[in-house]
Amino acid sequence: MKLKVEKASVEKGEGLGWGKSLLVPSIQEILKNDSQSVPERYIQELKDRPLISQNLFDSLQVPVIDFSMLAQKDANEIRKLDLACKEWGFFQIINHGVREEIMVNMKAAMAAFFELPFQEKSKCAKAANEIQGYGQNFVVSENQKLDWCDMMFLKTFPHETRKFNFWPLTLPGFKEAVEEYSTEIRKVSNKIDANLSVLMGMDENGLKRKLGEFQQGIRMNYYPKCSRPDLVLGISPHSDGSLFTLLLQDDEINGLQIKHKEVWIDAKPIPNSLVVNIGDAIEILSNGMYKSIEHRAISNEKKPRMSIATFVMPGDEVQIGPLDSMVNEKHLPRSYRNIKYIDYIRQKFAMKMQGKAHTASVKL
Ligand code: OGA
Ligand code: NI
Repeated sequence: MKLKVEKASVEKGEGLGWGKSLLVPSIQEILKNDSQSVPERYIQELKDRPLISQNLFDSLQVPVIDFSMLAQKDANEIRKLDLACKEWGFFQIINHGVREEIMVNMKAAMAAFFELPFQEKSKCAKAANEIQGYGQNFVVSENQKLDWCDMMFLKTFPHETRKFNFWPLTLPGFKEAVEEYSTEIRKVSNKIDANLSVLMGMDENGLKRKLGEFQQGIRMNYYPKCSRPDLVLGISPHSDGSLFTLLLQDDEINGLQIKHKEVWIDAKPIPNSLVVNIGDAIEILSNGMYKSIEHRAISNEKKPRMSIATFVMPGDEVQIGPLDSMVNEKHLPRSYRNIKYIDYIRQKFAMKMQGKAHTASVKL
């Protein structure tokens, strides 16, 4: 009897944390045997392939926000932030206060991990019923197309969510680099959170009061070079399930593209900046005023690209739904239902990354 109960709850996803994903081969390792190969499982359907040569919209730039001006409560910069969240869902921040050395160390730690022999990396491999660790997530069917990417996902805050069995603890400097980087990024995210709270009609602590201590998770994406970047996707179109995400990307190599007014445009790297995007949770809390925009990454022929995405999230048990300050039955009717955050995130991890499909269930 007891066994049956346990099995039923596992099938419903209870007791599993955030979700699971089928295990897939490492694309980085496949390419070690044949650097020119593009296995069938990675070749996208025609309609999903990226148009690599499209640079018609080269002149469009993701808005840049000077973080030091926000700290001074500069009205113009705050207005720019508001517009960026409304019209782009993306912005790049400069003068964010994270020392260059900390970002360089984080990138070096990630690179050192991905350069380890496969056998060593495998010691941190995720299990099928886990989303933390080295491998890939969002794989739910043997038939689905795979992204040209290997990743490592680690939860970093609150402290007790760290699962060190997925961390390469014997790799010199890795733990220190992640700890330092995640701590610094948390300071930046606290400031973003305070600004968004005010823009959404509350005081600076509004979101914190409503959502409790935030969770933080870091996804390190390794995109190997590809002989046919026109056939594959580094990361499929998706929006993030977070409140917001801070991305540290390669200083030189383009890869991230965002869907702006139905067109894919490059988020061209600005050295030492961080790319910030609004995630689904802020879209829901803001009652749709701030958009969680679809984005993707493309691969390239010349060099592997690495990126480090830090997701800032509410606590698992927190109910998210449009804030009172963002609903006005006459002019701004409620357009999302309430949902417990862990239910939202489980739903997201139960699907392939597929644009905004996972937000449909909470839309009214
Ligand atoms: C992500 C993501 C983009 C990139 O990890 O959620 O969107 O450029 N990454 O790696
Ligand atoms: Ni993303």
